[in-house]
Amino acid sequence: MSQEKLIAVIPGDGIGPEVMGQAVRVLEFYRSHRGLPLQQWSLDLGADRYLRDGSTYPPDVHARIRNEASAILLGALGDPRVPGFEQARDILFGLRFGLDLYANVRPVRALGDRLVPLRDCGMEDVDFVVFRENTEGIYAGLGGQFKRGTGDEIAISEDINTRKGVERLIRAGFEYARAHGRRRVHMADKSNAMRQAHELWYRAFFEIATEYPDIEAKHVYVDAMCLHLVQDPSQFDVIVTSNLFGDIVSEIGAALQGGLGMAASANLHPRVTRCCDESHDDARVAMFEPVHGSAPSLAGKDVANPLASILTVGMMLAHLGWPDEERRLEQIVARGIAEKRCTPDVGGDLGTRAVGDWVLGELARAL
Ligand code: NAD
Ligand code: IPM
Ligand code: MN
Repeated sequence: MSQEKLIAVIPGDGIGPEVMGQAVRVLEFYRSHRGLPLQQWSLDLGADRYLRDGSTYPPDVHARIRNEASAILLGALGDPRVPGFEQARDILFGLRFGLDLYANVRPVRALGDRLVPLRDCGMEDVDFVVFRENTEGIYAGLGGQFKRGTGDEIAISEDINTRKGVERLIRAGFEYARAHGRRRVHMADKSNAMRQAHELWYRAFFEIATEYPDIEAKHVYVDAMCLHLVQDPSQFDVIVTSNLFGDIVSEIGAALQGGLGMAASANLHPRVTRCCDESHDDARVAMFEPVHGSAPSLAGKDVANPLASILTVGMMLAHLGWPDEERRLEQIVARGIAEKRCTPDVGGDLGTRAVGDWVLGELARAL
């Protein structure tokens, strides 16, 4: 009998609770109808909690997640009532940085021709994976402000790039390519302008590439990559890049696959061979979230697309050892898109919950 897996669920803010509501129904289906050993642990964290008692990401919650959970499922964070984004940063970065989930893996796959917004491009042209560095870069939060509010003020955000951080992310991209039959890894940087930090990325990329002679290694400046992504996305298999560039590039990716309502992601600590990172632990908890944010203008209206969250559950199930279920969920979502059983952002006229109902009906039929 397999061991029970504890899934921490953080619905969060805005549309987070609505889309996570549907994702949790899928999880619950797998637990009760297919006997997967999943136990849910629902966490009241986010703007409401912060406004109620000032808590953002309590240390005891972090400790339990770290020690007991197998995965975290996160909706979205960000609420106009907390303009400083405190609760969101503490939770999101507390998970990504605090659990050292150094690879933000964002697959960009269009699950229907009509989702691709480019002329003469179909779903076969949009199929790549972004590996975004997830624990350092400009997100590290180092820096400061001086003479704030005066005409002489200075604002500095430092861009932190460590050999270990850059190397393990690049290796994770190459190893993913090798394991999944992908031919090419692109690395996007701005080494022409960011001479110190991105010279490290450039050098490390080509050094590491020599260990993967079966995979083509291509460097591209990130501005040119944005152009190529829109002109011809079919040339991309795996993209490795820094934290900030990965955030931006993956949003173009989301547009290519039908919008943010379709984009899933995983925050992982992949095991990579021959790396300076010795902190791997096979039982390490991973975090799964849709790429989109809390979309405050859509919240509470039953219009948010839950498919990104449902595909995110698929990524989680694959990570936990049930890859067939990820494929099954993808097929159901693709059918839902083809039959327009979806929300208005992807051409349907169903509400959030009705899309969940349809997906659950299909899952039940697949039994
Ligand atoms: P957003 O992703 O919330 O929304 C961008 C656009 O996409 C909007 O037009 C929105 O309506 C649409 N959209 C997003 N998700 C959708 C869905 N499921 N279905 C249909 N349409 C969808 O980005 P934003 O407006 O820049 O940010 C809103 C808040 O979310 C901010 O506080 C931001 O910081 C936060 N945010 C959080 C996360 C996260 O928690 N991981 C990610 C991105 C943004
Ligand atoms: C994302 C988001 C976050 C990020 C924000 C909310 C800090 O845009 O998950 O893509 O930049 O990582
Ligand atoms: Mn983003």
